[in-house]
Amino acid sequence: MVILNTPSQILSFDEGKIEQVLNNLISNAVKYSYPNSTITVKVFKGNHQIITQVVDEGQGISENEIDGIFKPFKKTSTKPTGGENSHGLGLAIVKKIIDGHDGSVGVSSELGKGSTFYFVLPI
Ligand SMILES: Nc1ncnc2c1ncn2[C@@H]1O[C@H](COP(=O)(O)OP(=O)(O)OP(=O)(O)O)[C@@H](O)[C@H]1O
Ligand SMILES: [Mg+2]
Repeated sequence: MVILNTPSQILSFDEGKIEQVLNNLISNAVKYSYPNSTITVKVFKGNHQIITQVVDEGQGISENEIDGIFKPFKKTSTKPTGGENSHGLGLAIVKKIIDGHDGSVGVSSELGKGSTFYFVLPI
């Protein structure tokens, strides 16, 4: 458990679990992108929340396949670029962990342009 404490605001989270979330999102960004593209992790602080985004310039996901992407075993027609395994479980784990922190998860993506996965943790 990590607690970041400023005079009036406290963010507490399970360090190992949030590391697992970042590992899943960053490894997906790598896995579904082509070599030599850029992956960016951005963190924003709002009044009542911390927003973390993992942005890739990879293959993206088509609009009609994005529904249910955080459900177990959901896979899309976007496949790994380096022959990696794909079980459809990583994002379901991400959602479970963030739900357990009273947060929320989401994605915006455009086929051929890339994806932004994000999670929000309450302060
Ligand atoms: N950054 C991304 N860019 C494009 N498609 C993605 C991205 N992340 C996930 N996807 C799509 O969403 C599906 C679900 O992702 P998820 O991480 O749950 O499973 P996975 O990567 O297939 O397998 P694993 O269980 O090893 O994580 C993937 O199969 C892929 O089609
Ligand atoms: Mg994955």
